[in-house]
Amino acid sequence: MLELQNIYFERENRKILNDINLKIDTNKFIAITGPNGSGKSTLVKIIMGIEKPDSGKIIFQGKDITELSIEKKANLGISFAFQQPVKFKGMTVFDLLRIASKKEITKKEACEILSQVGLCAREYVDREVNGSLSGGELKRIEIATVAIRQTKLTIFDEPEAGIDLWSFNNLIEIFENMREIVKGTTLIISHQERILEIADEIILMKNGKIEKIETSEEFLKNNVSKQCCKKIKTK
Ligand SMILES: Nc1ncnc2c1ncn2[C@@H]1O[C@H](COP(=O)(O)OP(=O)(O)OP(=O)(O)O)[C@@H](O)[C@H]1O
Ligand SMILES: [Mg+2]
Repeated sequence: MLELQNIYFERENRKILNDINLKIDTNKFIAITGPNGSGKSTLVKIIMGIEKPDSGKIIFQGKDITELSIEKKANLGISFAFQQPVKFKGMTVFDLLRIASKKEITKKEACEILSQVGLCAREYVDREVNGSLSGGELKRIEIATVAIRQTKLTIFDEPEAGIDLWSFNNLIEIFENMREIVKGTTLIISHQERILEIADEIILMKNGKIEKIETSEEFLKNNVSKQCCKKIKTK
């Protein structure tokens, strides 16, 4: 459904993305991982249309979308989870979900989505989106805003950022159910082993290149266990 062909992105004489080729199928849960600065966020910004590649093509459902604006890409069904939902005085969770879905939704539909992300819908649907919500609650609301769009491709950039490990452990089951919640392909940048465990495939990026693509099982066996062994050997 999504194909990247020979993507190059250069800034200040540095190759930030260096000949990226990638094919992502429909209904997959794909994780992107790799060291800081390896180009992961830049890659998803290019898919989203926030940045334009210097050369290369992005094909989405058979159509060349390389030159399309963020809005046009969003209309085709590419959705990005922002780290912090917008906060306006008086805006409720229901308002936020209505704006995100870009159509008239009923309170019942909003409540269904909130329940799917593990929030007690009755308690939250009319609540104002403000500082009184915890980081974990905001994160769930953020996931609900992308889920309600039911887009074909949903992108998350380090959803674990800014929430404590305890809250994250509670969130993991939402990611486990992401296939049913968003009903499309999920592309998620993460360093969290528990997210990597539930992915169909893991893309490892290094120095602006795709180092390898492996199934979750292969990746965790080849990478995490080796690090464990190293740790044991150096003791
Ligand atoms: N517009 C830009 N101008 C100059 N440098 C840029 C630009 N965009 C990205 N970079 C650089 O490209 C490199 C890759 O950045 P990117 O944010 O994609 O990394 P990342 O893999 O997401 O890292 P992290 O794990 O820290 O989030 C970094 O060194 C960054 O400073
Ligand atoms: Mg990043």
